Amino acid sequence: MKIEEWGKSKILNLIFKPAGFLMGNQIRSLFMNPEKMLQNAELDASQTVLEIGCGPGFFTIPAATIVGKNGKLIAMDVSTGFLEAVEKKVKKANLKNVDIMQKDALNTGLSENSIDKVILFGVIPFPLLPLDKLLPEVYRILKPKGTMSVWLFPPLITYWVLKVIPQTNLFDLLNKNGSIYNYIRK
Ligand SMILES: C[S@@+](CC[C@H](N)C(=O)[O-])C[C@H]1O[C@@H](n2cnc3c(N)ncnc32)[C@H](O)[C@@H]1O
Repeated sequence: MKIEEWGKSKILNLIFKPAGFLMGNQIRSLFMNPEKMLQNAELDASQTVLEIGCGPGFFTIPAATIVGKNGKLIAMDVSTGFLEAVEKKVKKANLKNVDIMQKDALNTGLSENSIDKVILFGVIPFPLLPLDKLLPEVYRILKPKGTMSVWLFPPLITYWVLKVIPQTNLFDLLNKNGSIYNYIRK
């Protein structure tokens, strides 16, 4: 079964529901500041940004606000349940610059060299997002010198992921701002 079909299934959305409640809850912003994290990811006005694994949209609304009306935020996830929650938030915030995509991030269907920045916040490592397939796809869609910003949760796996990314020979580490690692496409 294709992963997009999985993402539509009632069972998967039921399993994801409790996690979605925790990830999308406003209480989260008491100990995690999404705007600050996005600043550390060097998000900027007018950029075209792909948020992979947006979940229920904790980072989506602040990210779309930062890129502004001349930019675009593509919120991608497989779970239709999460994407419905994102759609409600986008409507409530009256944002016109968000594209919501139910798609497998390993095969985004986006054009090559079309994205300024990819955000991977709290999504790697994830069983459905193996780095050996995900990173080449991110590389493909990023513009030359496009960037990828990574926030790792739980931080315990940091060591392993930080070792694997340079091994692909696709990205160079630009900097680390707070808890965000910013990479540039080679
Ligand atoms: C731990 S959640 C993080 C959600 C969000 N970034 C946050 O921090 O609130 C991981 C998300 O990745 C999504 N995901 C997993 N595999 C995916 C894939 N292959 N393509 C797109 N999204 C995927 C899941 O549905 C889930 O919403």
